[in-house]
Amino acid sequence: MKQTHRLDKILAHVGIGTRSELKRLTKDGAIYVNGVKVKDSGMQVNPDTDIIIVNGEPVLYREFVYLMMNKPQGVVSATEDNRDRTVVDLLDKAYAPFDVFPVGRLDKDTEGFLLLTNDGKLAHNLLSPRKHVPKTYFAKVEWEVSESDRDAFSQGVTLDDGYETLPGILRILKTGKESENEPSEIELTIMEGKFHQVKRMFQAVGKKVVYLKRISMGPLALDPSLALGQVRELSKEELLALQNAT
Ligand code: URA
Repeated sequence: MKQTHRLDKILAHVGIGTRSELKRLTKDGAIYVNGVKVKDSGMQVNPDTDIIIVNGEPVLYREFVYLMMNKPQGVVSATEDNRDRTVVDLLDKAYAPFDVFPVGRLDKDTEGFLLLTNDGKLAHNLLSPRKHVPKTYFAKVEWEVSESDRDAFSQGVTLDDGYETLPGILRILKTGKESENEPSEIELTIMEGKFHQVKRMFQAVGKKVVYLKRISMGPLALDPSLALGQVRELSKEELLALQNAT
């Protein structure tokens, strides 16, 4: 496998200028490789071992980025939208050159764990219905979620379009009461990702989800230190765990 690449290509990939801007930076003597001033921005470098400095700042090259977002309500899980703000609009502009996209969708009014990446292969594997990657949601549901709902979910339920879901695991954290205006609080783990699946599973047992948050995906749980709308990169260990889950 080829270890070296053109310097200007690498820098363009991480968002440091177009080829013509890089030519100018080179002319101005602003780029160094391994401590030596660069004369030709088309030179070959090995991004894994060569130290590249532009305007005094080291350049971190990588092909893929993996981001965990705590998605807030009111933004759509898309890269572009004519009406609404998207999850990509919430990212720091440093990520713009990577062209990340959300892995799967959370509804506009759903919060919580959303993975964004430009690694199409990992995204495809995580979304593949054959891989059965579990996703766990916390929800508030009107009103009394019962053992019979748990049994129904453990068998799989029939959605409004006739689709039979795979079994889901329902944990009842708090049993609500309509007379006290208190919704139930539950966690539901599902192995697939049909459109509005959690809401429609409750609809299938005659109940209404009034708040929904994804709290985990495969082996990864939402980082509790991420406020709504915040993002962080996955650690090496987290990425490995996710790759192994597929
Ligand atoms: N199920 C839903 O109903 N909505 C989501 O956003 C995710 C799962």
